[in-house]
Amino acid sequence: MDDQTFIEYLHVKKSIDDRSLNRAVWDALVASMPPSSCDQPWQVLEIGSGIATMIQRLVDWDFLHYAHYVALDVSTTILGEGWHWLNNWAHQRGFEALRGDHTLRIVDRDHEIWVDFVAEDLNGWLTTSSPEGVYDLLIAHAFLDLINLEETLPKVLCCLKKGGLFYFTINFDGLTVFEPPCEEALDEKILSLYHRTMEMRMVGGKLSAGAFSGRRLLRAVKQAGGELLRAGASDWVVHSVEGKYPPGEDRFLRFLLQMIEEALKCSSEIEESQLRAWIEYRKAQIERGDLILITHQLDLLGRRKGTP
Ligand SMILES: C[S@@+](CC[C@H](N)C(=O)[O-])C[C@H]1O[C@@H](n2cnc3c(N)ncnc32)[C@H](O)[C@@H]1O
Repeated sequence: MDDQTFIEYLHVKKSIDDRSLNRAVWDALVASMPPSSCDQPWQVLEIGSGIATMIQRLVDWDFLHYAHYVALDVSTTILGEGWHWLNNWAHQRGFEALRGDHTLRIVDRDHEIWVDFVAEDLNGWLTTSSPEGVYDLLIAHAFLDLINLEETLPKVLCCLKKGGLFYFTINFDGLTVFEPPCEEALDEKILSLYHRTMEMRMVGGKLSAGAFSGRRLLRAVKQAGGELLRAGASDWVVHSVEGKYPPGEDRFLRFLLQMIEEALKCSSEIEESQLRAWIEYRKAQIERGDLILITHQLDLLGRRKGTP
């Protein structure tokens, strides 16, 4: 998938994430953060921030008011889109948005949020910046399946102040369901091959958290120096209503099919023609408004061990 298509995917994913985020985990986050003020802004780090949808969400949900927010992503193109998109959104919302080359300052009577867009690979940034004990809140949204948990998670948690909170959301947890079935054995084969490609993904010579990042994180945060405060499911459930999908969600389903096709098109374990026929069958279901998607994911809230 090229950058432009991936950016479109992230745009349409936002509203699905909004309704899927686990409310109990969210409420626990809201209850656990100390108040912020102009003089005491939160220090926030988001890794794999994409097009900055989380910042918009945190403001819209009346959570983020005064903060220095580092949005880190390896892709300059994706991050650049985030900068433009957040700037436009801030103007539409009536904020004053002050622009620098890689920064935005979003201000009104109840907000002063400095956003720093950092285009770097997470591991490289951790090595060069070694930001130990700096942040009050660490966010990773639909990202942690891409890192090696044993190696990177302890370093990431060290960026938090002792007692600082982490909010890790939309962590894929090994189950994709398309309903109604096509041919049960074929569905099973394609989806398990697709999950296997995630399980085989390497990052810096090591396996990434992969297709079961949700449950693996539940264990890994403890070993990495964290304490779990709350966890819950944040499954995507996408379906039509009276034959029509909510705006953009048919596109979201097509993006997902594209990802599956791209992941499997070179696989020796499935005939290309069989995969193509399955994709076409699923696309026709989207056209008719028949396709339902369930993707199982987990959200986690926790804190770095130690007294502040
Ligand atoms: C699935 S997207 C999620 C983006 C965003 N959190 C969202 O949900 O809208 C994963 C993001 O992680 C970024 N990414 C992947 N590997 C990275 C790395 N090693 N360091 C920093 N960012 C990375 C990608 O560029 C992409 O924007």
